[in-house]
Amino acid sequence: MSKAVRFDRYGAVDVLKVVEVEDRSPGAGEVRVRVVAAGINPGEIGIREGALHERWPATFPSGQGSDFAGVIVEVGDRVDGVAVGDDVIGFSDQRSAQAESVTIAADRVIPKPHGVPWDAAGSLYIAGSTARACVDAVRVRRGDTVVVAGAAGGVGILATQLAVLAGAAVVATASKENHAFLTSIGAIPVEYGKGLADRIRKIVPDGVDAFIDTHGDGNVEVAVALGVDRDRINTIADLAGRKKYGVKGDGMATVSPREVLIDLARLIAAGELRVPIAATFPLDQVRAAYERLGKRHGLGKIVLEVSPEP
Ligand SMILES: NC(=O)c1ccc[n+]([C@@H]2O[C@H](COP(=O)([O-])OP(=O)(O)OC[C@H]3O[C@@H](n4cnc5c(N)ncnc54)[C@H](OP(=O)(O)O)[C@@H]3O)[C@@H](O)[C@H]2O)c1
Repeated sequence: MSKAVRFDRYGAVDVLKVVEVEDRSPGAGEVRVRVVAAGINPGEIGIREGALHERWPATFPSGQGSDFAGVIVEVGDRVDGVAVGDDVIGFSDQRSAQAESVTIAADRVIPKPHGVPWDAAGSLYIAGSTARACVDAVRVRRGDTVVVAGAAGGVGILATQLAVLAGAAVVATASKENHAFLTSIGAIPVEYGKGLADRIRKIVPDGVDAFIDTHGDGNVEVAVALGVDRDRINTIADLAGRKKYGVKGDGMATVSPREVLIDLARLIAAGELRVPIAATFPLDQVRAAYERLGKRHGLGKIVLEVSPEP
């Protein structure tokens, strides 16, 4: 038996509970992972509240979470290249990540390089795949000027760095308290809110080539006002803006998560990509973790520390 997050009905954060469940031994092609860290993401709030029922219905009792990292403790038949004791980064599409024990297809884990911290590894999948999708969607090239809106968030902080690594000048919107970090990763920070388009024009008077919106709330309008080509504007948070202006809306579903995770883990281990951690919570405090996430401010990822690091 081990602990796992469950909810039995749609609702506010208090429907979440941590219960004892039976560990499932891996079948053919599967592995079992003792989870060390598991990230949390805003989309999970919408699923748990039932707001996404039409698109992604829950079946009850539901588990929760997609991102995790841990150590392989059991290997099923017909699994090659993965052994007990391996450190791995996992990506679940079965809402099973927020648990001490995850049994999953062996091809849903990749090796965790030694240099990748556990909290970063455990919160990489959703934010990392989405950041890659955003940067690919707007075709960031060397010499481009790119705006990343919501640059301090889980997706934005990675999209910002990927665009910098691709050779772009990146204007990054965030609250003042996150500007020092954004400067340290090679971006040009600017405060979001009223007057944003004018502030961006002042910083980059020659114009903006591409715009990545990870927050919604008028950013698509700002991108259009700046004269960015619509097929180089991508939003993951503004469906109405996307429809109204005919901009792109590529998200994580447009990339191969396995390839992206291997690449991002390599960059983190090489010291070329940083995953700041805004806050950590023990698994038992999963409700508090989502309350913190719901505030929608802070630098980087919020992570559940599930078991002690090996
Ligand atoms: N389609 C997909 O595949 C996909 C996948 C993942 C996520 N998403 C969506 O993408 C969005 C971002 O996800 P996330 O994980 O990055 O969220 P997150 O980590 O919770 O984002 C929090 C960040 O939002 C920033 N923020 C708050 N108000 C802002 C504003 N008015 N303008 C700009 N930034 C603002 C905050 O910056 P400060 O602290 O500086 O205020 C904070 O760093 C969510 O809506 C999520 O549902 C879509």
